[in-house]
Amino acid sequence: MDSITFRSDIVLSDVHIYTPNSSHLMVRLNGDGQPVFVSKFKILHTVNAYSKGDLEHLSNEKTRDDDLISSADVSEKKVDKRMEETYTDILLDDDGDLDVTRRSDGVLHSDENDQWREKVYPTIISKGEEFFSEEYEEDCTICNEIRIEHTMGTALEDVGKQVWRGAFLLADYILNNSYLFRDCTVLELGAGTGMTSIVMATVAKTIYCTDVGEDLLNMCERNIIANKHIYGTTGSEIKVRELDWLKSELCIDTKNPYCWSEEETAQLYDQTDVLLAADVFYDDDLTDAFFQTIYRILSNFRNPSTVYLSVEKRLNFTLRKMDVTCDAYDHFRFCLAELENLSDGKTKFAVEPVKLTFPQFLFYERVEQLELWKIIVEPLISNTQQ
Ligand SMILES: C[S@@+](CC[C@H](N)C(=O)[O-])C[C@H]1O[C@@H](n2cnc3c(N)ncnc32)[C@H](O)[C@@H]1O
Repeated sequence: MDSITFRSDIVLSDVHIYTPNSSHLMVRLNGDGQPVFVSKFKILHTVNAYSKGDLEHLSNEKTRDDDLISSADVSEKKVDKRMEETYTDILLDDDGDLDVTRRSDGVLHSDENDQWREKVYPTIISKGEEFFSEEYEEDCTICNEIRIEHTMGTALEDVGKQVWRGAFLLADYILNNSYLFRDCTVLELGAGTGMTSIVMATVAKTIYCTDVGEDLLNMCERNIIANKHIYGTTGSEIKVRELDWLKSELCIDTKNPYCWSEEETAQLYDQTDVLLAADVFYDDDLTDAFFQTIYRILSNFRNPSTVYLSVEKRLNFTLRKMDVTCDAYDHFRFCLAELENLSDGKTKFAVEPVKLTFPQFLFYERVEQLELWKIIVEPLISNTQQ
């Protein structure tokens, strides 16, 4: 025997393991015969939209109780109070019984989630394409709940059909710092089910929600449409588009339903303020392709922008090193450092970690392996004069 090979073809996101069974509904089989589920994720506090004018008040009225503002702006006491209220809200079971677990730091821990871990008993309510029934849609619009269609357990090439913790971390950051994204144009890369873009649409103006593969983009688009009740009143628009990091050009082939129009391409380069990507660093070649893609896109920007990247440091024991390693994470950090050290005379990149001290507005386990990184991107003078 030359070498030992362990194969583990199917991966399952922790998000779906931890979602309580009452929140899972198996609704259909997709084109590949995979069971498709719908999970409900409640935003634990009402998102109150600020108008541009409100922003000016924000600096004077940082402690208004009913606004979502940066955790740095909210006193500890208020955060505790808010989390108590919101926990109480979510822990009512289907019969209305109260089941409260409270912590004061606003961050959910694994022991709490363990209490929630239950077996999943899927219920098939329909097969084929029809699953957003009238009853479902009505139900959707009355609550502050994001409903995401996804699969559970996929091969690596299909991981975008599941929701990952990094998507929640980014969504949480957006909810806590909504004033940063008000009226922005945003590009999300590797958006998967569209979870983060949906949350971003509660504040930003235009979101290009991108990924690759028609089946995945179809699923993403269905989620975007099904969650209009979350962002529809803000007048924001989410456009699902193909952006393949392994290709050097945006898709403009009009036969592709997710292609880019000329105006959209122009808007992307001229108006984008923010780039996002959640949990897309798990394969070194893809990580290289991702960084090349953002470098290429950002080099064409005329205005300063900010990139937010969430990453989960996944530890693996390897026989090769006879030790626990996190090669994919190390490679991510290597690429980040390379970008920061780049001096091409066109664009300046400054990298910094974001402290995860902000409270949770979505229910997931914020493990210590989760990280959020920020890249501040400045076109140099020569670039803006092009
Ligand atoms: C682990 S999933 C994360 C999905 C989503 N951001 C989340 O956190 O739930 C990684 C994502 O990267 C996307 N991806 C992988 N290769 C890609 C490529 N070449 N171009 C664009 N997206 C890609 C996958 O389709 C998938 O949606």
